[in-house]
Amino acid sequence: MSFDWWRTGSIYHVYPRSFMDANGDGVGDLEGIRGRLDHLADLGVDALWLSPVYPSPMADFGYDVADYTGIDPLFGTLEDFDRLLQDAHARGLRVILDLVANHTSDRHPWFEASRRARGDDKRAWYIWRDPAPGGGPPNNWLSEFGGPAWTLDARTGQYYLHSYLREQPDLNWRHPAVEEAVFGAVRFWLDRGVDGFRLDAISHLFKDDQFRDNPPNPSWRPEQGPYKRLIPLHVADLPETHAALARLRALVDGYPGRVLIGELYLPFERLVTYYGRHAAPEIHLPTNFVLLRIAWTAEEIARAIGEYEAALPQAGWPNWVLGNHDKSRVATRLGPAQARVAALLLLTLRGTPTIYYGDEIGMEDVPVAPEDVRDPWERNVPGLGLGRDPERSPMRWDAGPNAGFTTGTPWLPVGGDVERVNVAAQRADPGSPLALHRRLLALRRAEPALGAGSLLLLPRQGDVVAYERRHAGRALLVVANVAPEARRFDPGPRRGPVLLSTHAGGPEAIPGPFLLRPDEALVVLLSQAG
Ligand code: NOJ
Repeated sequence: MSFDWWRTGSIYHVYPRSFMDANGDGVGDLEGIRGRLDHLADLGVDALWLSPVYPSPMADFGYDVADYTGIDPLFGTLEDFDRLLQDAHARGLRVILDLVANHTSDRHPWFEASRRARGDDKRAWYIWRDPAPGGGPPNNWLSEFGGPAWTLDARTGQYYLHSYLREQPDLNWRHPAVEEAVFGAVRFWLDRGVDGFRLDAISHLFKDDQFRDNPPNPSWRPEQGPYKRLIPLHVADLPETHAALARLRALVDGYPGRVLIGELYLPFERLVTYYGRHAAPEIHLPTNFVLLRIAWTAEEIARAIGEYEAALPQAGWPNWVLGNHDKSRVATRLGPAQARVAALLLLTLRGTPTIYYGDEIGMEDVPVAPEDVRDPWERNVPGLGLGRDPERSPMRWDAGPNAGFTTGTPWLPVGGDVERVNVAAQRADPGSPLALHRRLLALRRAEPALGAGSLLLLPRQGDVVAYERRHAGRALLVVANVAPEARRFDPGPRRGPVLLSTHAGGPEAIPGPFLLRPDEALVVLLSQAG
């Protein structure tokens, strides 16, 4: 087993619009991130992943890319990016970019050319189809953000495909020039020194070349939103994707120490296929979203850990996440006390953890009034709670105006409870979520059993999840009470000093069966490691 940084290290996900605004326009920027690198170094993470910072009309806040090799003026310049990269590297922090390969902006020059005429040489870079025989869209495919996945372009009389907004036309990855052009952008950033890519929406890369209708989803409930009405059989997870990803991996492997992370909302048995085969590896870290999906019970958590571990191929390195810019925040989903237990699990499970900005200080979703909604998904499909503004609220740095995020008017509301939930206040408070994250990350660095060791899941005891982590004769026990009441845990023959707890003032060692306090989780160093 090699100790690549992306295996033992931790990743921090920055949503650039909301992290730190250096120029007072109310939107975060690269200079803002650069000025806050010390926070990340102090926290103890190893890499930051930036959601897109490329030139973009911002219809989907950067996930609609108009130029793959530039920086949007809202975020700064290419020189600002180089400075950020240099300063991050000087602190031992890697930088990962978001590669939005499935689609571009409708204002990308490639699409502007493509829509100009049926005969344009970029026509086949996107997916164009004639209307259905009786008129209307070519088939029943749906956009993830509501409505059909097809928009009619009146000038040329054909429909183009968009898996997301109509402002985000899907590229045609069956056309070799598309791959060549996107791989050119990948090289551009790798040559500049970026440490890897998070691959956006990567399961959508290929679609059925016969354009067959998707089947209805028999278990659809309206509150899931219109997209879930169909099973995405012909628009996601197609076999052709693997060969393209293997070629991307071969390119990236030409640059030592780089990583590919894949956004894939798939069941384990499908997810793990994206590690690729031994002879043709693909993604280093296909994202494991299970902790975002399950009911937060010990039974579900233990099952998720067991099933994920069992599904992993031998060379497949695991990974875990608790939140991102598309999902309600962990402290809102689970409550502040259980969010601490979740952080302990995230940072002690086997595999690379990704921390979503603000989760380290226990930020919660910030509601946005209907008239202030920014997210296009919420605008298209209002009222179902699908909108993503609440988890994108500005980072809180101090208790000053706008929580120190901006001197201007923040693009999304900062929210309440700023006095307690901010970096400066929590730095001074050993009981804070920030202090817990720092202790956990320091322990991960100090204990190879956490960064690289094996994992043995112990039988669940009621509301308590427990596992061992072992490396080179050193063994740690992790015990987590997911109930808001005290729970007994019997460690069997296991004994040893408590290295870390979510709570202050607990026992220094586990003496045999003991009571975990409500919402308590701890890490124990086992005395008789085998
Ligand atoms: C997934 C991203 O995480 C999300 O924010 C974005 O809207 C879609 N892909 C489309 O790019």
